[in-house]
Amino acid sequence: MIPRETVQTITETARINEVVGEFVSLKRRGVNLIGLCPFHNEKTPSFNVNTARNIFKCFGCGEVGDSVSFLMRHEHFTYPEALRYLAKKYGIPIQEEEQTPEMIQQMNEREGLFKVTEFAKNYFVDILNNNDNGRAIGFSYFRERGFTPAIIEKFQLGYCLDEWENFTKTAITKGYNADYLVKTGLSIRKDDGSLYDRFKGRMMFPIHNLSGRTIGFGGRTLSSDKKVAKYVNSPESDIYSKSKVLYGLYFSKSAIVQQDSCLLVEGYTDVISLHQAGVENVVASSGTSLTTEQIKLISRYTKNIVMLYDGDAAGVKASFRGLDMILKEGLNVRIVLFPDGQDPDSYARTHRSEEVQKFISENAVDFIRFKSDLLLKEAAGDPIKKTALLKDVVSSIALIPDEISRSVYTTECSRILDFPETVLISEINKILRANFKKQFSEHTENDVPIETHGHASRQQTLEQPIGINEQIATAERGIIRILINYHQSEISITNEETDEIEKINVGNYIFNEIINDELTFENPLYNLIFQAFSTRTLSEVEGHEYQLIDDSYFLHHENEQIKQLTIDLMTFPHIISENWEEKGIQVKKECEDEQLFRIIRGDLLQFRLYKLEKMIDDVREKLKNEHSEENATILVAQLKGYQRGRAKISDLLGRKVTK
Ligand code: CTP
Ligand code: MN
Repeated sequence: MIPRETVQTITETARINEVVGEFVSLKRRGVNLIGLCPFHNEKTPSFNVNTARNIFKCFGCGEVGDSVSFLMRHEHFTYPEALRYLAKKYGIPIQEEEQTPEMIQQMNEREGLFKVTEFAKNYFVDILNNNDNGRAIGFSYFRERGFTPAIIEKFQLGYCLDEWENFTKTAITKGYNADYLVKTGLSIRKDDGSLYDRFKGRMMFPIHNLSGRTIGFGGRTLSSDKKVAKYVNSPESDIYSKSKVLYGLYFSKSAIVQQDSCLLVEGYTDVISLHQAGVENVVASSGTSLTTEQIKLISRYTKNIVMLYDGDAAGVKASFRGLDMILKEGLNVRIVLFPDGQDPDSYARTHRSEEVQKFISENAVDFIRFKSDLLLKEAAGDPIKKTALLKDVVSSIALIPDEISRSVYTTECSRILDFPETVLISEINKILRANFKKQFSEHTENDVPIETHGHASRQQTLEQPIGINEQIATAERGIIRILINYHQSEISITNEETDEIEKINVGNYIFNEIINDELTFENPLYNLIFQAFSTRTLSEVEGHEYQLIDDSYFLHHENEQIKQLTIDLMTFPHIISENWEEKGIQVKKECEDEQLFRIIRGDLLQFRLYKLEKMIDDVREKLKNEHSEENATILVAQLKGYQRGRAKISDLLGRKVTK
């Protein structure tokens, strides 16, 4: 954990022009710097670096962010990785947060597990290369499989002798901790307390994390006995979590980024053979079936996945599940089936490098064609089966989060399966609506701030006319925009009791209005921002030191969505159109005209009105289902109250409009 203050020092010290400048060549234009956007293809530069605000924005593709988000997107760093990079660049020492004895122990333990695993990897490599049996059995096995010495070395392949405790004994003699040997699964403890080697007599495939450290192993048997497990894998440990690791990613990540595509295969040997054939953008989900976490990991490097599968029936069916998971994460997926009996490993071994590349690029089909072709064969001439097939394909399409891709695939599906598109669309919409309802109800229960506008606008196209939720969202956005941009500005309001004109700052004004009316924001992100403001305002009320939130508070917030939103709201189209660094002038204008107060008041009234309308709808709904006379009377009274409120606000708004 990097302490908060250090995070702040880092984000304040980092200069956006210097950070971006390492990757993009920038030219001065006016107060800004400008260059070719690294996030999309362009010939004329529209990538702006605003040194005053310390942010970048591409007017071509819309990417925005600060130094941290730039590194996260450009270098595929995680948040802490980006911070550490910047800390190093600017020589800022990172004093890790004060650690409890448990934390220190856990750290030491993790380090211990890494050390044991590292030792084991070197031991197995050493046996493979230098031990007589290792060479005769292990090394020659890999050579017979067609692995070159260079590829054996690159992937740090090894061999565990076919003896019960050679590895464990060596490790203990060298002073390695027996508990760590057991925790990493390298050794197994018997009931009598003695240890033996888990990987006895197996070919060893080390599994690496993203920085190349060994975290676990896959051990392949040499026996062809069906009763012997083909692979034994390291168990889960503090350093190895199967669902979060992809075999080969450490060796493949740069090729994946370069080619903007990731091949997904089933086995260790597929990854290695493809590398040997010069196809390096490949990973395998080792020892587990594909997980969502693994897909998210890939999406840090590319949005395009190509699944390579055996042509046999089992392989094909297995691919279906993975395929749907990838679609759901919003990634593009294509599939290559290998000729029956072949897999990427055997194909790569028996063909030249160019042939392998060519085979993959010529045989990759999108998932509609893939599913349709397969299922059509099964369903030939059987209308019931054809219906089932349609439902299957349609349910995959419905998983795609992006609306445009969804409609492209719908058209494709209609063409391939020769079925009217309108019917497909209505079928997809049915699924979407059901999913949306489910998601929405889960969402409001948990109140987790992850929902974005994307979902709101998706709903909009489904539930035809723009609903009350959409109107509330717009009003909320308006209020948050004012809060972020103008919370420090002063406005004059008339005190209703004394009739005197008072000056109050916008942040406080909005805070009071919202709290007094017990209004809450429906969008969890907005709510979070509002909460942050109100905590600061509250501490002032209670006499604590008032720490004003400055622009950079949200601009460099660790929540990427808040950051995005803040930048979005700060660089509102009409403000940025000419000179966005002159935003200050715009602020003054709105204030001078006394526009600001009117805008805020209007927004707040609008917000109240929509909220009331929603409450009215809710009460009406409740009334429909209320059977108790007594409760119904209470509801009716409530309804009347809300309706009066609504009339009053409409009136106020109306007057404002006619003025
Ligand atoms: N696997 C496993 N446990 C098994 C069988 C398979 O963990 N008992 C995992 C391994 O990660 C393996 C992958 O599933 O790499 C694919 O299995 P398979 O195709 O059978 O193995 P390959 O690695 O391709 O081995 P080979 O080419 O030697 O048959
Ligand atoms: Mn295989």
